[in-house]
Amino acid sequence: MARVPIPPARWPTRAEAEQSRLFSPLPVGATRLRTRTWVPAMVPWRASEDGHVTEAVLDWYGRFADGRPGALVVEATGIRDVPSGPLLRVGDARFVPGLRRLVERVRARSHGETRLFLQVIDFLSIRRRPEPQKFFERFLALRSEHRTRLAEVTGEQRWLEEREELVRARLVELPRAVLVEVLSPRELEDLDFGHRQRVTDLHEEEIRALPATLPPLFAAAASRAREAGFDGVELHYAHAYTMASFLSRTNTRPDGYGASLEGRLRLPLEVLAAVRAAVGSDWTVGLRYLSDEGIAGGSTLEDACVFAPRFAAAGADFLSLSRGGKFDDAKQPKVGEAAYPYTGPSGLDCMPTVHVEGGPFGRNLAHARAVRSALRTAGHTTPLVACGGINDFELAEEALASGACDLVGAARQSLADPDWWRKLELGHGGEIRRCLFTNYCEALDQKHVEVTCQLWDRDPSTAADPRSRDGKRRLLAPPWETAPAKG
Ligand SMILES: Cc1cc2nc3c(=O)[nH]c(=O)nc-3n(C[C@H](O)[C@H](O)[C@H](O)COP(=O)(O)O)c2cc1C
Ligand code: SF4
Repeated sequence: MARVPIPPARWPTRAEAEQSRLFSPLPVGATRLRTRTWVPAMVPWRASEDGHVTEAVLDWYGRFADGRPGALVVEATGIRDVPSGPLLRVGDARFVPGLRRLVERVRARSHGETRLFLQVIDFLSIRRRPEPQKFFERFLALRSEHRTRLAEVTGEQRWLEEREELVRARLVELPRAVLVEVLSPRELEDLDFGHRQRVTDLHEEEIRALPATLPPLFAAAASRAREAGFDGVELHYAHAYTMASFLSRTNTRPDGYGASLEGRLRLPLEVLAAVRAAVGSDWTVGLRYLSDEGIAGGSTLEDACVFAPRFAAAGADFLSLSRGGKFDDAKQPKVGEAAYPYTGPSGLDCMPTVHVEGGPFGRNLAHARAVRSALRTAGHTTPLVACGGINDFELAEEALASGACDLVGAARQSLADPDWWRKLELGHGGEIRRCLFTNYCEALDQKHVEVTCQLWDRDPSTAADPRSRDGKRRLLAPPWETAPAKG
């Protein structure tokens, strides 16, 4: 797909910005945003291996706070107390002091102007794609059906009785065309992609029990976020993770937590109720979900328009829309690597580049408008956050004026230039470093290395700034040299 050029922008004067919708306040639940500007969650791979806030995490969010967005959402943070690599966690009281430092850093750097939300997430396990030999020798649960099919396809009856290790050794040697006759589709997927738990794996006790285990886990995580001083939480019901999988049309659970629309909504509403009961009504609880899963057989905009009033009626203080980002259409990983949910077409829906048809610029606003209209028709004033390729003032202002959304999210543009909101507000739009929307940052995320931006990570100025582990990239956007000292 040819590259869609970044549209030229006309930047507002300071007076124009002052009178704009974008830079006007909005109450969101129990808090009030100074402006309608929003930095959506982005995982930067800077937490410690055991999930704690590090100096690099403080620096990263402090840098976004310099731009003084109305709201800043801290990356997907795990609600369980289980090892999950360098991703932030909030599954135990020991994580609270670090998170409190994070809140203090953002308060200080934004001069108290930015409201801070913690995105809280649950995800199921995913294994790396195995070596085929290892898969057959160790991971495949050998069943009598395998023996029967092997005997059928080879015409050799001995496989019905043969010793297990010999059956496994024979399976290793089978050509692909024969293997597909012997393994189930799920086993083939485990071989080709690595095993991935699903909310429909009811043969697993842990998965059956999710409706009982998740509400208290989310509630406790939200209470800790409140204790740490955050202004609210954003429940992560989007992309490839547990709660999105419950909402999905692909959720066929027959136990009352799937299959029908009511069934799919049941756990997300129970989690919301448990969180609300734990934190009280005087603290902001919002959620992020998908306007469209973008996969065959998945939920669509029609579902999103039904979900929105239900979440609002259940007391969600804001709804933030994302799109796609599913495992279902992810690319096959290399042996030894895990599948990544942003590599297929639905991944492009989530983080659209200049190579998608029509470009990424305001690409999700039509969906947002439909969801907002469903909310308003049902009588809810719940604020809606939209994002996706928003990179200039007029696009943002038009999105608000035309009723597509109430809050304007910009993730990658804020990464490219964390000061961009402030530059807009102060009439310095011409100094904005504009995102190229080619997803260099997202490729780093995929490799699980520190996320940086190609527009500044080789900038030699302020050479003392911290560097990536390989020493090659700066970890923070260079300071805005002409930033007004105060105000
Ligand atoms: C490096 C990176 C990490 C991200 N991490 C998260 C995340 O933790 N939670 C989430 O809901 N979305 C995450 N996203 C998606 C963004 O929040 C946003 O929805 C997406 O980038 C589209 O918005 P944009 O066009 O303004 O960048 C991430 C995006 C990027 C580029
Ligand atoms: S790396 Fe590229 S896509 Fe990512 S924020 Fe920077 S310019 Fe934008």
